[in-house]
Amino acid sequence: MAIERAGVIGSGLMGSGIAEVLARSGLDVVVRDISDEAVAAGRARIEKSFDKGVSRGKMTEDERSAALGRMAFTTDMAAMADRQLVIEAASENEEIKKSIFAELDSIVEDESAILASNTSSMPIIRFAQATSRPSRVLGIHFFNPAPVQPLVELVTSVLTAPEVVDEVEAFVSGVLGKEPIRADDRPGFVVNALLIPFLFSAIRMYEAGHATKEDIDTGMVKGCAHPMGPLRLADMVGLDTCFYVGQSMYAETGDPAAKPPLILSRMVDAGMLGTKSGRGFYEYG
Ligand code: CAA
Ligand code: NAD
Repeated sequence: MAIERAGVIGSGLMGSGIAEVLARSGLDVVVRDISDEAVAAGRARIEKSFDKGVSRGKMTEDERSAALGRMAFTTDMAAMADRQLVIEAASENEEIKKSIFAELDSIVEDESAILASNTSSMPIIRFAQATSRPSRVLGIHFFNPAPVQPLVELVTSVLTAPEVVDEVEAFVSGVLGKEPIRADDRPGFVVNALLIPFLFSAIRMYEAGHATKEDIDTGMVKGCAHPMGPLRLADMVGLDTCFYVGQSMYAETGDPAAKPPLILSRMVDAGMLGTKSGRGFYEYG
């Protein structure tokens, strides 16, 4: 059965980007966050991105209006009842995510619906076990910014049914036009298992005073052709998200490379969350 009605839980950086991708691909999308302010911020982020898409010639004005017309924004979880696919993109917190999956399990009516998490690092099996339908739960991990990055990691738990992964793979490539790769349910999957230790090395280098933040970033941009340096990238991901992802990976693996640097913890405590709060390693207008 074709997936036509999707839900997204969380309208932060990733939830809004994922909702945008789904709506631009022709799906009817309901986006849910916990407060009117969060929902309004998510909607504003999507409208701004649509404006950029139009100005860059990636979509027409008509496509913009049609995509927005396919989206609904709410704080009411009950709006997920008739969804065929729900992607959870709430904050990187295991307890929050488990309670969302338990709630979705009791609300989403279609037993063949697919329940997915956009978690960066956490075990998919724990979310699957919060439901009565673990075979229909998997990770669908988009990359930031979701409307631009082609990659989507498909993360299968030991209980995910093979036909569910096949169906999602066909949907991600055929309908969303993204490039899927498959990964086991291991901390950080493929990309973050490599990326987080890299970002934390750069933060430790800065913390130790080996080089300025600008020179660390310029080094990787001009020396290795990265599109942006690691400190600017950490700001874009969100320093809170980087911290929680590292914390979860370190708790599971004990790998010191995944242990969040102390300065990251202090910056998060100070509300310096990167681009989204206006201040991280850099300042944003
Ligand atoms: N809608 C449609 N297209 C858009 C768009 C939008 N809203 N915004 C930008 N684009 C398009 C542009 O038109 C452009 O396309 P062309 O190349 O065809 O012209 C392309 O996207 C790049 O856009 P910009 O010129 O505005 O941006 P840029 O060249 O300055 O690149 C960037 C910005 C995409 C963020 C780039 O710096 C980049 O890729 N940085 C690295 C990002 C990265 O590593 N992300 C992964 C983070 S880790 C993660 O996500 C996982 C996790 O779990 C934490
Ligand atoms: P964010 O902080 O921008 O947004 C999180 C949103 O979740 C907030 O709007 C918050 O209000 C909302 N939320 C919290 N509890 C909720 C609940 N019970 N129901 C609905 N919404 C709730 O975070 P983000 O960067 O969008 O990250 C979201 C998820 O995506 C995390 O799991 C993160 O690890 C993952 N992820 C992040 C990135 C990135 O680069 N930021 C990339 C890929 C994956």
